[in-house]
Amino acid sequence: MTKFEITPDSPWLAPLAGYSDLPFRLLCRRHGAGVTCSEMVSVKGLAYKNSGTTRLLNTCPEDAPMVLQLFGADPQYFPAVMEKLVSMGYRNYDLNCGCAVRKVMKSGSGVALMRDVDLLVRIAKIMVEKAALHPKGGRVGVKFRIGPEYGDETYLDLAPRLEDIGVNWVTMHPRYGKQLFRGEADWSKLVKLKEAVSIPVIASGDLYTARDGVRCIGETGVDGVMFARGAMFDPTVFDRFRALRKGRELPPLDGAMLARVVREHIRFTREYEGDGRSFRKIRSIIPRYTKGLQGIRALRGRLNQCESWEALEAAAAEIKAMRNADGISLPVDDNCL
Ligand SMILES: Cc1cc2nc3c(=O)[nH]c(=O)nc-3n(C[C@H](O)[C@H](O)[C@H](O)COP(=O)(O)O)c2cc1C
Repeated sequence: MTKFEITPDSPWLAPLAGYSDLPFRLLCRRHGAGVTCSEMVSVKGLAYKNSGTTRLLNTCPEDAPMVLQLFGADPQYFPAVMEKLVSMGYRNYDLNCGCAVRKVMKSGSGVALMRDVDLLVRIAKIMVEKAALHPKGGRVGVKFRIGPEYGDETYLDLAPRLEDIGVNWVTMHPRYGKQLFRGEADWSKLVKLKEAVSIPVIASGDLYTARDGVRCIGETGVDGVMFARGAMFDPTVFDRFRALRKGRELPPLDGAMLARVVREHIRFTREYEGDGRSFRKIRSIIPRYTKGLQGIRALRGRLNQCESWEALEAAAAEIKAMRNADGISLPVDDNCL
């Protein structure tokens, strides 16, 4: 178990819907992630005990310290859900105010919450008050973008108000909501955010490699960095980042290392979930690790035919011999921005 800390030397795994489930969090922790975030979890779904939603709460002692990320825009659901989560032992929470997926925004959640800062702060306050009921003291962060529409600098008004109500840290992905993932993350806004608050600031956005993480800290002075797409592509990015902070560069990922990482991911999935659903999920995720490698088509075909965990491990072992073709591209899931 690592310590819960927000420091430049402790890289976090970002919340990633569809990805940062328990097996992936364990995988990233094994490769140097200090704190990991869950996928976003719907507060309304928890209130109505939706089985798909409650499955996202899956955790275990080795998963600590984990931050449970919640999304929702209706304050009436938050008190009871937070009380329940605290009684179940969850200690660290985050409020998603950055997701720009249409389905989430339609309910007023995600980055749409930034359109109504009073409501956002009200919800965050409920989370802070209820998290405090945790016997060891709960912690709450809020993750947001610059603002919902192009040109909105909502974060500058929002962040100090969050600090005032007792939010423990803020994370910013410095793009506008409307921007989705287009263009570049504007790290200069992180510098302004640092000036606006005295609670820790975590950076998210265009941190694809360890080098990006180190550069972001140097350029902005943020207290910590969070890897998202960079970790989806290479879960060893955390080890690489830690080493680079100490001036050492780890060797680039090759077929043998990637095969080992994939095997670990399969094993964590089998051990901690192990049902048919998780089998199909990991089978569909493996090809993403091998983007840019020669022979991916043939591998995908073989993976699709796998009906047992053993067969899946055997097929994944073939990655060892795969060669890099023309550069590896990042696996961006356009449906999940
Ligand atoms: C597939 C995918 C799923 C994501 N899911 C979430 C989520 O559940 N909650 C959240 O706050 N952000 C989510 N994000 C945003 C990331 O946490 C991160 O802020 C964003 O990807 C920018 O970082 P990057 O450019 O280093 O990838 C997601 C991003 C991707 C690509």
